[in-house]
Amino acid sequence: MGAGPFGVWEGIVALLFLDTADVNEVRQAAAWGVLDGVTTNPTLMMRAGTADLKATTLEIVNIVQGPVSAEVISTDAEGMIAEAREILNWSEHVFVKIPCTVEGLKAIREISRWPNGRINATLIFSPLQAYLVAKAGATYASIFVGRMDDAGLDGMEVVRQTRAIFDRYGFPCQVLAASIRHPAHVVEALLAGADIITVPFGVLQQMVRSPFTDAGLERFLADWRKVAGAGNRP
Ligand code: E4P
Repeated sequence: MGAGPFGVWEGIVALLFLDTADVNEVRQAAAWGVLDGVTTNPTLMMRAGTADLKATTLEIVNIVQGPVSAEVISTDAEGMIAEAREILNWSEHVFVKIPCTVEGLKAIREISRWPNGRINATLIFSPLQAYLVAKAGATYASIFVGRMDDAGLDGMEVVRQTRAIFDRYGFPCQVLAASIRHPAHVVEALLAGADIITVPFGVLQQMVRSPFTDAGLERFLADWRKVAGAGNRP
């Protein structure tokens, strides 16, 4: 088990990230002991009611001690690069999120040459976009599965195809399944070979629950009380 800057289980199993900018959610999920990192974006910042990207990102880093993605808001390469220079200096755990556009590719190419060039290429909706960001030097390719499903497409197929392409040609870029809507997406992403899955807190809560577990536990405790009375186990 590795405990490096890229997650508790780096290099061993699929990493599990929380998709949120809500520090309380991060704190709760981290306490479960299964959280490797966090992804944020401007919409999630808006939902969390904060515009202080640096303070929020560093507060989250302090909790998870793993990869935390913070997104640029510039749309031109020069602006993205300038933002990335600042964001990546905040902490060794911070990844800069760059959208998959022409300007984004230029920025990824440049940032990937830096010694601290940790890049999460975002808003990916096709294996070709994933291929391009991998070629440009991104560390992660974030594929937005749920948004494709919402549009009647097969989002998970893009994860599968990207996995096959990266494996076929040996791209070191990691496949990140994003825009996860429900626990079945997580199962499919694991089976499709995603390196990382980022889930909203609600999905994480659903993943651990089963009515069979609750019923089973209730039954065990009831049976124990029958033989041992109401007291605790001696
Ligand atoms: C990924 O990093 C994004 O923050 C996220 O998964 C977007 O998903 P959405 O479709 O729920 O907005």
